[in-house]
Amino acid sequence: MTSSSNRPSVVPQQDLESFQDHLNKSTRILALLGAGLSASSGLPTFRGAGGLWRTHDATQLATPGAFSADPGLVWQFYSYRRHMALKAKPNPAHYALAELAKKKETFLTLSQNVDGLSPRANHPEESLKLLHGSLFDVKCSDFFCNYLEKNNYTDPIVPALAIPTSEEDPTTTSALASRELDIADENVPIPELSYKHLPKCPKCKRGLLRPGVVWFGEMLPEKVLDDIEEWIQKENKIDLIMVIGTSAKVYPAAGFVDRARAKGARVAIINMDKNDVPASGLDKRDWFFQGDAARILPEILSNVIGELKETPDAAADADNAVTEASS
Ligand code: APR
Repeated sequence: MTSSSNRPSVVPQQDLESFQDHLNKSTRILALLGAGLSASSGLPTFRGAGGLWRTHDATQLATPGAFSADPGLVWQFYSYRRHMALKAKPNPAHYALAELAKKKETFLTLSQNVDGLSPRANHPEESLKLLHGSLFDVKCSDFFCNYLEKNNYTDPIVPALAIPTSEEDPTTTSALASRELDIADENVPIPELSYKHLPKCPKCKRGLLRPGVVWFGEMLPEKVLDDIEEWIQKENKIDLIMVIGTSAKVYPAAGFVDRARAKGARVAIINMDKNDVPASGLDKRDWFFQGDAARILPEILSNVIGELKETPDAAADADNAVTEASS
């Protein structure tokens, strides 16, 4: 059960009241999501602690240049991220936002996250705009080929990208005996992979497939940007933008905060780090809710979404616990 009812409040009462009062009156609401939303699901963020993958700055691997220089390494990084995202579960913040989208039809969520956790929390598709694509889309890297496959959850996508395992107990033959190695750790050796090991395009049969995410230096998906623009232009006013678990340093995504402010939106920031405010700073009408989004969102949205009901993942956890306990 992901209920916040018996928990002590995690936000100051006065801020909670003024925010909820405004939320009640708001119809045109935006949310800008970042990696901090999925932090309590166990997925690392990009900047600060956890931003290194082996010896590489995670953002340095997210470029077309890195892929052409070493597609094997970049695929190992993304295959690892696909694997970790599939093992992770949506947390109460994902469910709270999905619920808000069901309650307020004019609420639009702009997510920088590629981990698939908002879709898995059943966030309505039409009100979720994936600014940076998805780890589970794959497309051809050949300039002249337009192959795109959505929702590819094959893990590993090719055998060579399987996470290496260690035999924990050589006397045991059960599957439990092998343990996945953490290839984010530079001390764990990984093989050098070349063209022949990597996924190829089934359409042109020539190009390598690549993750369907937006890399630094690339354009955001045109249709996604058009949909957002249409929503913004539709009326003169925006009531509220929630800036959740993002350092708001990457553009054009971060620019939506100022776009919303220019249309009158009040800004609510939900972040662990008090210093992570958008470039335009804080206004006296803004809110800063400091702490874990997974704790804060169910509470501050509760006047609209009510208590979160039991979630499918939580139910699966409970079932597993029963099975394990009785086996
Ligand atoms: N709850 C709320 N906020 C959190 C939590 C948490 N549990 N844990 C971390 N944060 C905050 C951090 O304080 C930080 O401000 O989440 C933010 C994460 O920031 P980044 O790592 O910069 O991630 P993000 O803003 O999503 O990055 C934007 O950059 O590398 C690219 O394409 C990538 O989409 C990504 C983009």
